[in-house]
Amino acid sequence: MSKAKLTINNNYPSVTDLRNKAKKKIPKFAFEYLDGGCNEDVNLIKNTAEIREVELSPSYLSKHTGSDMKTELFGHTYDAPFGIAPVGLQGLMWPNAPEILAKAAFEHNIPFVLSTVSTSSIERISEITEGQAWFQLYHPTENRLRDDMINRAAQAECPVLVILSDVPTFGFRPRDIRNGLAMPPNMSVKNILQILGKPEWAMKTLIHGQPNFETLKPYMPKNLDLKQLGKFMDQTFTGRLNEEKIKPIRDMWKGKLVLKGVASEMDAEKAIRLGLDGIIVSNHGGRQLDAGESTIRPLTRIAEKYGNQIKVMMDSGLRSGPDIARTMASGAEFTFLGRSFMYGVAALGNEGGNHTISLLKTELQQVMEQVCCERTLDFPNHLIKKIN
Ligand SMILES: Cc1cc2nc3c(=O)[nH]c(=O)nc-3n(C[C@H](O)[C@H](O)[C@H](O)COP(=O)(O)O)c2cc1C
Repeated sequence: MSKAKLTINNNYPSVTDLRNKAKKKIPKFAFEYLDGGCNEDVNLIKNTAEIREVELSPSYLSKHTGSDMKTELFGHTYDAPFGIAPVGLQGLMWPNAPEILAKAAFEHNIPFVLSTVSTSSIERISEITEGQAWFQLYHPTENRLRDDMINRAAQAECPVLVILSDVPTFGFRPRDIRNGLAMPPNMSVKNILQILGKPEWAMKTLIHGQPNFETLKPYMPKNLDLKQLGKFMDQTFTGRLNEEKIKPIRDMWKGKLVLKGVASEMDAEKAIRLGLDGIIVSNHGGRQLDAGESTIRPLTRIAEKYGNQIKVMMDSGLRSGPDIARTMASGAEFTFLGRSFMYGVAALGNEGGNHTISLLKTELQQVMEQVCCERTLDFPNHLIKKIN
């Protein structure tokens, strides 16, 4: 049950407002890492545009006893049908971002998913969320590392483990290449000038200290320079995911297991065969395959075909309550957003998590009442134009 009140800062009543503010507040290399897609950004743009082709029909004269956003997922009743997707390097975009978002998610009773390469540890996030955060695993090259991270997630009582499938190779991101993006930030003259232009970010980052890969820290040799860090990351996470790598995780992990990055019926079928509990239809927010489909298309087909065999969720491209409604009407039982929450924190700091969740909840409630939808799983009854 949510402990949080819905509080919205009236200067930022949309995710677009938060994005615009975030752009002004953080250095260009950090904003472009967050905001960009890959290659020519075709799929990034299509993701949102094609969700917005979905149309809903209202039924104004129907009996309506009230709309309730609460949605059951994996035995937990969440206050809303959306969660915070895993995002790497969060602390680079705003100091303490993962902690701010985890706290807000916990208070609003929605899921927060911690990325393997975020800047907080499994243990710290679990403490903040009283064991309710999910953990996203980048499959490491070495099984020893995989087992250790899975054991840590179990010890921290994470209810759901999310395995990522859509990074067989790093995305080709021209802005990051141009910016020489690295962790910690590359101190080129260009980047230093960008930092000097964002005094609040610079001051907060200075006080908070340099962001680190806290979950990976125990496995990293100390005092790596930039080049060595890059080499460590490359060696630690090479290799693509496959069924043989998923099987032992299914045996080992007693909680719910979800595959993220599903973008085809074939991969959805494999997930079902492997006994997984859920899939997140996702194209990584358009950051990996610019020539791919936007996610709403495979979501619609996969939900129709397999929705009664596995929990089908979706992310990529959602930026508003109406987008969440359109996605659920197309068959998703739950949704996730990545950039929207990070724009919120980059724009509003400590208030950003609470504000963005409040905004999305308020917008979604309005859509539910407008179309006469009493429960979120009834959204498909209002679908009049689907995209597949
Ligand atoms: C800056 C950034 C970093 C990301 N890092 C990860 C990550 O470490 N692990 C992961 O599973 N997904 C990662 N993602 C993908 C998100 O989990 C999610 O799929 C995507 O952001 C959804 O699209 P949206 O931003 O349009 O909502 C990242 C996305 C962004 C924007």
